[in-house]
Amino acid sequence: MNGFSYVGNELCVEQVPVGEIVRSVGSPAYIYSQKALSGSFSAYKEAFSGRKSVIAYAMKANGNLRVLSLLGGLGAGADVVSGGELFRARKAGIPAEKIVFAGVGKTASEMREALDAGILMFNVESPMELDMLSRVAVSMGKSAPVALRVNPDVDPKTHPYISTGLKKSKFGIPADRALSEYLRAASLPGINVVGIHQHIGSQLTQIDPFRDAFDKMTAFARVLAKNGIRVAWLDIGGGLGIRYGEETPPTPGNIGTEILSRLEGLDVGIILEPGRSIVGNAGILVTEVLYVKETEVKTFYIADAGMNDLIRPALYGAYHDLWPVKRREGEGKKGDLVGPVCETGDFLVQDRMIPPVEPGDLLAVMSAGAYGFAMASNYNARPRPPEVLVSKDRFTVIRARESYEDMVRGETVA
Ligand code: LLP
Repeated sequence: MNGFSYVGNELCVEQVPVGEIVRSVGSPAYIYSQKALSGSFSAYKEAFSGRKSVIAYAMKANGNLRVLSLLGGLGAGADVVSGGELFRARKAGIPAEKIVFAGVGKTASEMREALDAGILMFNVESPMELDMLSRVAVSMGKSAPVALRVNPDVDPKTHPYISTGLKKSKFGIPADRALSEYLRAASLPGINVVGIHQHIGSQLTQIDPFRDAFDKMTAFARVLAKNGIRVAWLDIGGGLGIRYGEETPPTPGNIGTEILSRLEGLDVGIILEPGRSIVGNAGILVTEVLYVKETEVKTFYIADAGMNDLIRPALYGAYHDLWPVKRREGEGKKGDLVGPVCETGDFLVQDRMIPPVEPGDLLAVMSAGAYGFAMASNYNARPRPPEVLVSKDRFTVIRARESYEDMVRGETVA
């Protein structure tokens, strides 16, 4: 994996041994490779360089300020889904004119914040939301640049919890109502129709759903043009999958070739919202094995990281590879890698081969850069782990480990 390799038997992130980082920051810890991060972003940039485009990084995958400023420095915009994400993106220096705002439940005050900032586009998900945005914009004497999120009803062939483009999903406006809603939008005060948005799901490993959805989108753009609405942007969302285990997802280059070859006669720019495929394989969660517990039916490897640190295995049954930080001789053993949290669902790995380890050894849960720290919580009053960024032979703590005091900030005893 780009950025992560063994030197002898020691796992390194770029040129820094993981063991050295953990000696300094403790365990558990998230560690990211700058080379892997910028490499995946550059692949998108290159793939779409032939066209006016904005790569609006879906920061919900990993919203660390340093990660954002690094990607922003390479030219990334941001796909935000809340006032909090807008705040982070702006704090990290991402220009407002490269920010798109999605989500089914934007509040009036979040709309005001985004209008004040002057973002590129609101991706509106329902008629009522459109009316609210119109009222808010008029009250500020502004005009809101808008795309409607059209639900193309395409099966993305991924986990049901992360499929978003099906008819039964809460996201977007059904395709058969899109034209009438666009005509209505065009007549509303304070609304400036500038684009079409879609996003069909996450961790997509086949190209067909992208192709099918994009064909529907370009066909719809042509219908809109016939009805007098010319959009400037097609926002194709994110969703490109990564390799967690045996997957062989398309590359940004594959997607670029498909998309750019389907734009004939359309004078539009392309917006992309990749999240996982930028940061997923650029990060690991390192955890120390505390104890090994043999029962009649199973071997449990008890680690100091759990579902509060990385919830994907518990929530989706997600697979993450497990690499030993120091390789030992031997076969390993089948078992579960579990955390200290008081839940049966608290596992990082279930019923799989665990590499040979002794208590005190470190394990790296791979491909944890996306939706890892971002979904971490303080459940069981566990401070969230630090985040560390490695570049070549140097590492930097880009978010300190939380303290007990951090966790009670804002609470009162009396
Ligand atoms: N754009 C929109 C409108 C989205 O809803 C999402 C993700 C993205 C872009 C970025 O998708 P990506 O490129 O990362 O696939 N927590 C889940 C993933 C939830 C994705 C939610 N929306 C997981 O850990 O797998």
